[in-house]
Amino acid sequence: MSDKKYFYDHLDPDIKNILLAQVRNVWTHHSTSLEGNSLTLGETDFILEEGLTIQGKPLKDHNEVYGHAKAIERIYQLLNSPEITPHDLFKLHETVLTEHVIDIDQPVGKWKSQSNFTTYVNKENKQAWREYPSPQSIDGLMLQWLKNLNLSLATVWQQAEAVKMYAELHLSFVTIHPFFDGNGRMARLLANLPVLKSGFPPIVVSQEDRYQYKLCLSDYQNTILDLEALSDLTQLPDNAEKQHFVELCNGYWSETVELLNNATAMQNKRKK
Ligand SMILES: Nc1ncnc2c1ncn2[C@@H]1O[C@H](COP(=O)(O)OP(=O)(O)OP(=O)(O)O)[C@@H](O)[C@H]1O
Ligand SMILES: [Mg+2]
Repeated sequence: MSDKKYFYDHLDPDIKNILLAQVRNVWTHHSTSLEGNSLTLGETDFILEEGLTIQGKPLKDHNEVYGHAKAIERIYQLLNSPEITPHDLFKLHETVLTEHVIDIDQPVGKWKSQSNFTTYVNKENKQAWREYPSPQSIDGLMLQWLKNLNLSLATVWQQAEAVKMYAELHLSFVTIHPFFDGNGRMARLLANLPVLKSGFPPIVVSQEDRYQYKLCLSDYQNTILDLEALSDLTQLPDNAEKQHFVELCNGYWSETVELLNNATAMQNKRKK
């Protein structure tokens, strides 16, 4: 671990700004694309850099990209907070979910008010339901989750510990599924707080790895006996499926590390 505070600290302002924009574009593209956004990396870059739209592409996709890019700014701001609170998560959720539809069953900037589920294919090769923890348990579970997050931010982690921290926070967040929507994007943003705080570039789940990523989360959730009744995070298993997710996350660093290396090479050229 170097003695610099953040991953861009050794760069001149102009090089740093380009790197931060590249990281923002890649992070935004992959995370929105994972939930079905149709914009390519090139289009995402164009929209964010030029402030223009792509002809024929949905307005919703443009808004998601803007929302996610804005949420990344909030993540960097949160690095200076003494403590991350539920209010911070609600503000971030409002930023990520750009559609502020007034629907009491689909609250934005609040925990979910209705049960939510996903489906998966079980060992018998049959479609099955998985119900996430009930709305009544979310307050308590998320206070615990935030306690873990704040604890993780009190330490500067080495690389192996930072990825473990990211994987744990990410996995537990999507397993709680506290919001009616946006849980994946929120997890992929928030779990990077300890990573950034420890001086590393963000871990970015690649959209090309969507199948493996979702399968791994699903395999882990299948090891929880009664997910719907989960009321305490200490009940979450620490097992081989979780370890598999840590390993996957370790591989999701390569794209931003490459961007950082390229920026550092530009900086070194300048020094000569
Ligand atoms: N079959 C599954 N099993 C376990 N977890 C899943 C499964 N499918 C999705 N997830 C997790 O839940 C997230 C989707 O939840 P949600 O729709 O609330 O989030 P989102 O940000 O709107 O969408 P997305 O992840 O698709 O970006 C996924 O990103 C992933 O993290
Ligand atoms: Mg969604």
